[in-house]
Amino acid sequence: MRDLVKRRLDLDFDPASVPRDWYAGDAHMTTMVSALSLLFPEGERFFVDSVRRYRSRLRDPELLKSVDAFIGQEAMHGRGHRAFNGMLRAHVPDAQVTERAEKQLRRLLGFVRATLPPRAQLAVTCALEHFTAILAEQLLQRDDQRDDIHESVRGLWVWHALEESEHKAVAYDVYQALGGDYPLRVVVMATTTLVFFAELINVHVRLLRARGELGNRSGWAGLRRRLWGRQGLLRPLVPAYLDYYRRDFHPDDRDTSALLRTWQERLFGERGELRERLVEPRAA
Ligand SMILES: [Fe+2]
Ligand SMILES: [Fe+2]
Repeated sequence: MRDLVKRRLDLDFDPASVPRDWYAGDAHMTTMVSALSLLFPEGERFFVDSVRRYRSRLRDPELLKSVDAFIGQEAMHGRGHRAFNGMLRAHVPDAQVTERAEKQLRRLLGFVRATLPPRAQLAVTCALEHFTAILAEQLLQRDDQRDDIHESVRGLWVWHALEESEHKAVAYDVYQALGGDYPLRVVVMATTTLVFFAELINVHVRLLRARGELGNRSGWAGLRRRLWGRQGLLRPLVPAYLDYYRRDFHPDDRDTSALLRTWQERLFGERGELRERLVEPRAA
């Protein structure tokens, strides 16, 4: 079992010092990754609620500790992305676009909360935590992907990636501790994949339209290459995504411990890149 750390970070983003196309100088990639950021605060609140609901049923003290750290980490990510999303609003000509997107997501999650049984809601969290875990691992591994993120905002994404990778097994372990229903887990993953990408595309299109880039064909072609090209953002992740459908899958099958040690030191070690942003380091 891993020792998770709750870190409090003081992050602020000045719209004047963040380029509008902060991701690879590319409007389509920037709006797509911005759409992801807009989904994070409400999404992570959902993750926390779906796990916290089962806290009193857990008996393993190590798992309980991990759950508390998971909750603390996700709450901080929500804060970090809310600050980031506030900065994004200054870059979108119609600031209400972001508010409308967030409102729509709240409605969608409200529907999920009202209709899915708690166990299935936890399975949704496990599915999305697998997405964030494999994206995070890739971001920590690939210099080219980190270099695509402008340095003024890179810290947020790398810190978030580190912690997603650190706590990648927590929701899954809770699900397993409750009996781990395999058919439900994979059906929910398949459905969540469809709903998640539909929602991401929906927000992305809204942002592109607000910026007048929706009809830019070369922008769309570039986006396809950057996502699905051989070295793209998504194509190399397909095998890791499919691993989740194995009956004996566990997030720790992918051993990221050395990668995590490297990044814990690089970000928060004695001369860590984000050390001075740290407000209150606490061991969970
Ligand atoms: Fe997170
Ligand atoms: Fe997470």
